[in-house]
Amino acid sequence: MCGIIAYLGEDSAAPILLEGLKRLEYRGYDSAGILTVNDESQFELKKDVGKVLEIHEKLNFLDLNGTAGIAHTRWATHGGVTQANAHPHLSNNGRIAVIHNGIIENYKELRSKLTSQGFVFSSETDTEVVPNLIEYWMRIKGLDLVEAVLNTFQSLEGNFAIVLIDRDSKTIIGAKNGSPLVLGVGSNGKNEYFLASDIPAFLDRTKDVVYLYDGDMVVLRCDSHSRSKKSSSYQIYNFRDGRKIVTRPVQSVSWDMEHAAKGEFDHFMLKEITEQVETIQKAGAQDRETIEDIARRIKEAKGVFLIGCGSSFHACLSVSYLFSKLAAFHINTVLASEFSAYEHFLKKDTLVIAVSQSGETIDILDAVRTAKQKGCQVISIVNVMGSSLTQMSDKTLFLNVGPEISVLSTKTYTAQLVVLTLLAYALAGNLDEGLQRVKYLWNIVYNLTAASTRARIRALADRLSKSEHIFVIGRGSLYATALEAALKIKEVSYIHAEAFAGGELKHGPISLIGKDTPCIVFVSKDTEKLILSNAMEVKSRGGYLIGIGPTPIESFDFFIKVPETGELNPVCDIIPIQILAYQLAVILGHDPDRPRNLAKSVTVR
Ligand code: M6R
Repeated sequence: MCGIIAYLGEDSAAPILLEGLKRLEYRGYDSAGILTVNDESQFELKKDVGKVLEIHEKLNFLDLNGTAGIAHTRWATHGGVTQANAHPHLSNNGRIAVIHNGIIENYKELRSKLTSQGFVFSSETDTEVVPNLIEYWMRIKGLDLVEAVLNTFQSLEGNFAIVLIDRDSKTIIGAKNGSPLVLGVGSNGKNEYFLASDIPAFLDRTKDVVYLYDGDMVVLRCDSHSRSKKSSSYQIYNFRDGRKIVTRPVQSVSWDMEHAAKGEFDHFMLKEITEQVETIQKAGAQDRETIEDIARRIKEAKGVFLIGCGSSFHACLSVSYLFSKLAAFHINTVLASEFSAYEHFLKKDTLVIAVSQSGETIDILDAVRTAKQKGCQVISIVNVMGSSLTQMSDKTLFLNVGPEISVLSTKTYTAQLVVLTLLAYALAGNLDEGLQRVKYLWNIVYNLTAASTRARIRALADRLSKSEHIFVIGRGSLYATALEAALKIKEVSYIHAEAFAGGELKHGPISLIGKDTPCIVFVSKDTEKLILSNAMEVKSRGGYLIGIGPTPIESFDFFIKVPETGELNPVCDIIPIQILAYQLAVILGHDPDRPRNLAKSVTVR
C-alpha cells in the first residue's frame, strides 16, 4: 500500500528518486522520504508527513548527494501519520536503512526479542524491526550483509516488499513476498539499476525489467574499481527456496512514458477516462485461441467462480448476467474477501477466474491461494504484467491498457468488462459477434468522452455538488453499473452515493427519497419498462431524475444520451458517471487522483 523506489547507478540519485516518488504517489500519500549515500559513505535523509511535492517544497530533496538511494511514499498502517513513522527507518547503529510496503505480522514478537538485546525503537511501525534485525545478525552474530539479510527475511511473517541500503558498501537489497517489487535494468548498457513497486516509477530511464517472484531477494552491488570508474551488478536469491541463486529473464515492457505522464490533462483520472476510446479497443484485441481455450475450460469445469474486489467485482457481477443471458451458463460471482465462505465447494475441477487491475490486492491473492491449495485451475484477468496474481495463475488475460495511475479504476474497469464480455460470447460460440460489437464502440466512446459532453456533465456536477446523497438505480447488468457508479461518485467526491437494483427501491430505500433527491437511472432497451416505472416512483416523491440511456423521457430532469449497445451497455453507460465523479471532485476541491484514505492497490486485509 506504499510506494518504493531505489536507485543505484552513476547519476545523482535524488532527482531520479523524487521523480519516481511522484509517479508512485498514487500508492500512498501520508508521508514520504528519500535517503541517499554520499561519496563519504554517509547517509543523507529527508522525510516528513504530507504529499511528496509539499515535502519537497519544504525540505528540498534535491540537496541530497550520492548516486545510490532509496525512497518511499507511505499509506499508514502501523503507527499514525508522523515524521517518526515516515520511511526510511534506520538500524540503531545507523548502518542499514529500510523502506517497506506491506505488513510484518510478527513484528511485535521480533520487536520484543530485539528490545531484550538492547535495541531501542523510535517509531511505532512494524518496519523498524527489519534494519535492527539485520544489525543484530551482523553486529552481534558476525554474519556478512547478505547472510544477515537472508536470515532476517526468513524470520518475517506476512506480505511485504522491502528494500534496504547498506551505508558502508552502498549495496541495495530488495525482497518480494506477496507485495509488488520489480527490478529495472539500465537500458543500452547503462550501468544503473532500479527497484520499484511499479514500472512507471523508472519508465523514463529504462523499459527493461525483471519481474521478481515471491521469495526473491535481489542484491545490487556497486563495485568501485577506481574513484572514477564504477560498475554495478545484481544477483537474485530465493529466500524461500533454500537460499538458491535464481535467474529471471530481463523483459522489455511495451508501456512508454506517455502512458505515465499527464500530458495536456490536469489529472490522470481525466486522462484515463478519455483514453478509453483506445483502451476499450486494445482490451478487445485478445488472442482468439486463448479466449476460446478459456471458454472451453469454463464449459468443462464443474463450477466456476468469478471473483474480484471493488470495481473489479462490479465488472464480474455485470458480466455474470451475460454468461446467463448469452450462454445460459451459471457463474458464481463472489467478493474475493468473502471467498473463504465458499471453500468447501472447491474441487480439482473447479475453475476460478480472478479479476484484478493490479494483481496485487491481498483479498484476491488470499482467495487464489486457497483455490490453488484445493487444486482448482485459476485464470486471471489482470492489467499489471508480472504481478503476484499472474505468477499464481495457470493462465492470464491482460487488459493491455497501459498503467492506470489515478487511484480510481476507470479505463481498467471498462477493459475488464470487454474481456469478460468476449469470454461470454466465446462461451456462447459467438466470439465473432462479440469482437464486432466491441469495434462498434469506438465512435460512441469518442463522443462520450468529447469536450462537449464533458461540458454538459459539468453543469450537472455543479448542481449535484451541493447534494448530500445521490442514489443510483439499474436493473440486470445495469444494476452492477449502478453499484460502480455509486462507488465512483463516493470515493472521489466524498458525497454519499448508494446504488439499488430498481426493483428493490420499494422494499425500503424509497423512504430516503425526498424533494430534489438526485437519482441516476440507467436505462436500456431490455430493462426500460420496469426501470422507468421505478424512476417514476422516485419522481412522484419529488426526486430529481438523471437519465442515462438511449432515449429521453419527459420525467427526466437531466438526460445523458448513451446509444443502445445491448450486451455492451455497461461499458458505455459508466463513462458519463466517471466524468461526473471527476468533475464533482474538482468542484469540491478534492484531488481526483489521490482520494483521501485510499490507495491504488490494497495490500492489507
Ligand atoms: O487492483 P484491483 O482491481 O484488485 O483493485 C480492486 C479494488 O481495490 C479497486 O477496484 C477499488 O475499488 C478502486 N478504488 C475503484 O475505483
